[in-house]
Amino acid sequence: MNILLIGKNGQVGWELQRSLSLLGKVTAVDYFDTEICGDLTNLTGIAKTISDIKPDIVVNAAAHTAVDKAESEHELAHLLNAESVEIIAKETAKIGALLVHYSTDYVFDGEGEHYRLENEAPNPLNVYGETKLAGELAIARFNPRHLIFRTSWVYAARGANFAKTMLRLAKEKSMLSIINDQYGAPTGAELLADCTAQAIRVEQQNNQVHGTYHLVASGETTWYDYAEFVFNIAKKNNETLAVEVVHGVSTSSYPTPAKRPHNSRLSNEKFQNAFNVVLPHWSVGVERVVTEILGK
Ligand SMILES: NC(=O)c1ccc[n+]([C@@H]2O[C@H](COP(=O)([O-])OP(=O)(O)OC[C@H]3O[C@@H](n4cnc5c(N)ncnc54)[C@H](OP(=O)(O)O)[C@@H]3O)[C@@H](O)[C@H]2O)c1
Repeated sequence: MNILLIGKNGQVGWELQRSLSLLGKVTAVDYFDTEICGDLTNLTGIAKTISDIKPDIVVNAAAHTAVDKAESEHELAHLLNAESVEIIAKETAKIGALLVHYSTDYVFDGEGEHYRLENEAPNPLNVYGETKLAGELAIARFNPRHLIFRTSWVYAARGANFAKTMLRLAKEKSMLSIINDQYGAPTGAELLADCTAQAIRVEQQNNQVHGTYHLVASGETTWYDYAEFVFNIAKKNNETLAVEVVHGVSTSSYPTPAKRPHNSRLSNEKFQNAFNVVLPHWSVGVERVVTEILGK
């Protein structure tokens, strides 16, 4: 099996290099590669990469993921998250390849308190969510042979993310204020990569599984409780922290350029049933990655 991985150095892309290698030959590219174009801003280049390599599967882990920056970089976010995705969908359809792509809880407006199902109506609150939704719609329109995985609050030992920022701030500051009214599930890049490989294996045997899935760790938390959990793991590992007081604050008291949904709970039942996996509680992966980041 020939697999093209776009975005090999992102949090998820890095882990996919490992998990996809068990399935076949992986050609992994990034935007700065000179031999093979992996730059999503170069639409003809990306199309040529797919038509030259003729992979059986394309996994696209690249994206414009800076949620606040996207508010002032609408065109670039749209190019990376929607226009290039449309080209990838069209090119993979031409050669009959499976397209695996990632999307986000931010396609929803976060109303209510329930775990959202895949078929609920999207209504993004910010540019990032709007452009990711446009990417989803382009894939659905141009390549029916697809797997779209909506995930949330991604972290990894490598790359920038909330858990690492909290660890750094907890060593620098005695007081922190953290949002306590947004709910979701931190999801590890390792878990996403392993589940992607499993889903591809299932897809090879069953062509009924194409579609959109919520792929997140189980359970729920808030950014505040997530941070407290990270600090407790650090303390358990005898790490010296400067932080003494952690205030829980509301979203409205911490304005950001991009609006964010309050309820990012996603139901992961459909993924577990279709691909025969048990998605662990979010705390399992976070404990592991914090311990790894601390080098314990
Ligand atoms: N991170 C989250 O919390 C989160 C939440 C929900 C969904 N997702 C989705 O999950 C997927 C993977 O996210 P992630 O957390 O792994 O994101 P990430 O670490 O930001 O990885 C995205 C990668 O895309 C690269 N990239 C930037 N511009 C590019 C271009 N022009 N051409 C090709 N690649 C380019 C980035 O490079 P640079 O780093 O050098 O810019 C980065 O390596 C994305 O589809 C994302 O939308 C992420």
